[in-house]
Amino acid sequence: MIDITFNDDNAKSLVSELEVNSLQTRVDCLHADLESGRGQGSDYLGWLHLPSRTSPSLLNLISSTKKEISDQCDAFVCVGIGGSYLGARAAISFLNPVFRSHAGPDIYFAGQNLCSDYHADLLENLANRDVCVNMISKSGTTMEPAIAFRLLRNFMEKKYGKEESRRRIVVTTDSQKGVLYSLAKEEGYKLFEIPNNVGGRFSVLTPVGLLPIAMAGINIHDLIEGALLTENVLTKTSDFSKNIAYLYAVNRHLLFRKGKAIELMATFNHSFKYILEWWKQLVGESEGKKGKGIFPGSVQYTTDLHSLGQWVQEGSRNLFETFLLLEKSKQVIEIPSINDKRDGLEYLEGKSLDFVNDKAYKGSVAAHLEGEVPSLAITLKERSAYNLGQLFYFFERAVAMTAYLSEVNPFNQPGVDFYKENMFTLLKKPGYEKGK
Ligand code: PA5
Repeated sequence: MIDITFNDDNAKSLVSELEVNSLQTRVDCLHADLESGRGQGSDYLGWLHLPSRTSPSLLNLISSTKKEISDQCDAFVCVGIGGSYLGARAAISFLNPVFRSHAGPDIYFAGQNLCSDYHADLLENLANRDVCVNMISKSGTTMEPAIAFRLLRNFMEKKYGKEESRRRIVVTTDSQKGVLYSLAKEEGYKLFEIPNNVGGRFSVLTPVGLLPIAMAGINIHDLIEGALLTENVLTKTSDFSKNIAYLYAVNRHLLFRKGKAIELMATFNHSFKYILEWWKQLVGESEGKKGKGIFPGSVQYTTDLHSLGQWVQEGSRNLFETFLLLEKSKQVIEIPSINDKRDGLEYLEGKSLDFVNDKAYKGSVAAHLEGEVPSLAITLKERSAYNLGQLFYFFERAVAMTAYLSEVNPFNQPGVDFYKENMFTLLKKPGYEKGK
């Protein structure tokens, strides 16, 4: 049994069970297309059976690399953007304590923006630290991480000299080609390969995500085990009563067809913050094509109930919410009983924060439903690597199926390339002078 549950009760006012079931046969065919590689973008289906094909030797190599790096540094910088950044960031912020740092080097991120102050502050911060760098880019040519990597290589070579820098730099890139691949080979950097048939936003369970996640002290064996469980369950059948990723996909698809063009992923748990960022990329780049696709937004409740909550309750009625919930917090904290009662909170004494948060959730769902915002709910049992592996895989399946239902290729991103070419023209990159 997987540790994720899905509930569509609060969407039934708009999407009936009959409508959901009417799509079962279509989903059965699309599932067969996915499994047999007959669907769109079939060159990029490596993620589909990645958990079952991840070898123990790869996991052991990542674990031993983690140990080697941890012995050398107290600051580990992950350079990457999009799919080469968000998965690791999501896992680390989901699983690690908010304020207490994990054992091992501190994890920094670079190359996920072009902000001068961010990178200047980072370099300043690293000046008195012992540093190792993981450059992550499938193509090897993405502008933001390429620039950050140049800054960091320059910094490393000045700090440690060329020879020692080579031992402190790890590269994760395409398994056969690209400038980064050649550079890593020529310099003798330790190299982790990204399978050819796994695209950026589906790559969290490759070394792209696994090395930084391991560096943060997280058990990657558990992460893969969890994903493997979900892979097995969701591969076996496309029947909605057993395949909840497809049930979620069909609900999203039908809500979209009924004018709900925005999906607001809402959480009441702070630790999901970057999972939502990862999910937005997965949905946005996979589904937003050919004038179609749900727009993925995210809100952090209860924080955003005090800002966007007004819009959700009474603004344009073109959205639905998906609540991403956690069944069990790691720690229980109760509202204490104190002698000074002037704050008026006596009625909550002895109640846990989770209890109050749950009432905030139930209150919001009911209010929003009344305001014509239907909702779905996905509940994860606990904050563990094993559960997170399940969740990553669940979302990948669901998003791929929703894109197939809309007849778009989930695995390309022609729109992302468009801005890059314009930028290259403006920067006068050789070969791009004339523009499109
Ligand atoms: O999903 C994708 O393919 C993209 O978002 C990429 O992950 C992102 O553009 C970074 O690409 P790369 O890893 O080639 O630097």
